[in-house]
Amino acid sequence: MAGRILQIRDLTTGFVTEKGIVKATDKVSLQLEKGQTLCLVGESGSGKSVTALSIMRLIDYAGGMVLEGSIEFHGKDLAQIGQDELRKIRGDKIAMIFQDPMSALNPVFTIGDQIAESLRLHRGLSDSAAWKEAVELLRLVGIPDPALRAKQYSHELSGGMCQRVVIAIALACRPDLLIADEPTTALDVTVQAQILDLLRNLKDELGMSIILITHDMGVAAEMADRIAVMYAGVIVEEGTVQEIFNNPSHPYTVGLLQSIPGLDGDRGKELFTIQGSIPGLGQIPTGCRFHPRCPHAMDICRSQEPSDYWITQDHRAACWLFEDNKVNKSNQRKVKGGV
Ligand SMILES: Nc1ncnc2c1ncn2[C@@H]1O[C@H](COP(=O)(O)OP(=O)(O)OP(=O)(O)O)[C@@H](O)[C@H]1O
Ligand SMILES: [Mg+2]
Repeated sequence: MAGRILQIRDLTTGFVTEKGIVKATDKVSLQLEKGQTLCLVGESGSGKSVTALSIMRLIDYAGGMVLEGSIEFHGKDLAQIGQDELRKIRGDKIAMIFQDPMSALNPVFTIGDQIAESLRLHRGLSDSAAWKEAVELLRLVGIPDPALRAKQYSHELSGGMCQRVVIAIALACRPDLLIADEPTTALDVTVQAQILDLLRNLKDELGMSIILITHDMGVAAEMADRIAVMYAGVIVEEGTVQEIFNNPSHPYTVGLLQSIPGLDGDRGKELFTIQGSIPGLGQIPTGCRFHPRCPHAMDICRSQEPSDYWITQDHRAACWLFEDNKVNKSNQRKVKGGV
């Protein structure tokens, strides 16, 4: 499909535990167009990081594995290829930024050396060309005095600066896809906004696509073209940022949006919370995974897992409340007068 950089279909990932294999993501389907940002949102433990690690197949190193489904990236199914080939793709076409910038940097090398190392490795640059490019990358991510800063160590930089360096390292290979897992959570609010601005500008400047993981709906509102809402390992709702905010449909999404603190109006008012907590991997409820916490739960929700229903052509929610709009393959065939 023209412009589509990533197409994930039915991605199911599991971890090996004493009780056997437990699923961490179940039939996750997502797509991402070139130059767009997809935000993956959901509470802690909903499976956002596992999904990101699965796309990169780093899950294989975390005691997990892809059990089913496909991850089509540039016409290749990343679920099917070996780690040697994946290493090349990871260093070259897909880059990932993790939550804690400090732990991503090596304290015993200068930041210039760390960026240059990546350039030598992935782009085959000579020592002097790599150093020059490292300084350029530091400039690109908005570090003042980049030639000077390149000679410093991570402990000499603020958290925000370190995150800029981490982004520079990720950009060293000029990735087509950047996966950023809570890149601003460890930073204070002002620096957070600067880093988000930087990511937005870099995306436009370099024509990248971004998967941004955040538990902050405010960040998603600012950054996303599309939003996928995750709960207990499944995507419960997905659509354009406008659809998700103007027409949130899954009760979980509605709850997430209601729990955003307002600006002034809410001061002194008790903040809405979704009752209960997200289930652990071994304790996924039958039927709809959200039903024990859902104010609209019906009998069918307790026994049968809902499939996707189309709220609009471009906006889906996995919730029995929308049963009439169900579009699955058999229904489509019926509509088209097929078998
Ligand atoms: N290596 C692992 N082995 C076993 N279970 C794991 C492992 N990593 C994650 N999990 C489990 O998978 C589920 C999803 O975790 P994940 O880290 O993807 O959540 P998340 O949405 O990224 O949460 P957060 O917002 O806290 O980062 C959780 O129940 C978690 O305990
Ligand atoms: Mg996470």
